[in-house]
Amino acid sequence: MVDDRPIGVFDSGFGGLTVARALIDLLPNERLIYVGDTGRYPYGNKPQADVREYSHEITRWLIDEYDVKLVVVACNTASAAALADLQSTYDTPIVGVIDAGVASLLKVSESNHVGVIGTVGTIGSGAYQDAVAEADEAVRLTCAACPGFVEFVERGELQSDQVRVLAERLLSPIVEAKVDALLLGCTHYPFLARTIAEAVGRDVVLVSSADETAFEVRSMLMNNRTTREGTPVPPVFLSSGDIDEFARIGRMLLGPELDNVGHWNP
Ligand code: DGL
Repeated sequence: MVDDRPIGVFDSGFGGLTVARALIDLLPNERLIYVGDTGRYPYGNKPQADVREYSHEITRWLIDEYDVKLVVVACNTASAAALADLQSTYDTPIVGVIDAGVASLLKVSESNHVGVIGTVGTIGSGAYQDAVAEADEAVRLTCAACPGFVEFVERGELQSDQVRVLAERLLSPIVEAKVDALLLGCTHYPFLARTIAEAVGRDVVLVSSADETAFEVRSMLMNNRTTREGTPVPPVFLSSGDIDEFARIGRMLLGPELDNVGHWNP
């Protein structure tokens, strides 16, 4: 069986492009509809109830307008606040990024002493603390919230002195904890990987959930026999903010596949 319907992907802004990149590379025949909620970003410092409401709005719209066959919540803050709720509301399969990230993190750590960084909302929710404890109680976990990182990425500012100074300050608990692997528990953070690596030391392995999430999506499509065959079609990118700005910075972050950007209104 084949299923021509697209996959819906959403984030508060550009962060989910790390997951979209992995999906485009691993599943080039699939059609992607990406919604970046830049008009309401950042999600990381908003109450969980608001993030849950936004996540429902976007998911419902992707299902109603595009009849998507699967939704990827390509945002840790939204996964922490809303994934369980979304999964129990809609019949469409919905995938988050937290479990995939934890699986990758534990795979690469040799010392069993790991770190997770994310937004205030994600770290404060306890979602990673719970997911790591559930996967392996023996693992020592150090978490740090990194308010401000997302804003630098949204401005396309990935390597300035300001972001370096902020990284050194926010990541000092991770350095002190001497972890051997660090999960970038916000989909925006892989864009700051060089700055983060310099701040925590190059011997710490940085882990992103993007690839593991794409592998999970592929397994689900194969198990459900809903992969798409035929010629690739260009992904669709939509933003609730300034679409010219989304196209300019988004293309720099994702690559040439991000061509046209349309408006998405909540
Ligand atoms: N990319 C998002 C995440 O993974 C969030 C960022 C935000 O809007 O604060 O948490």
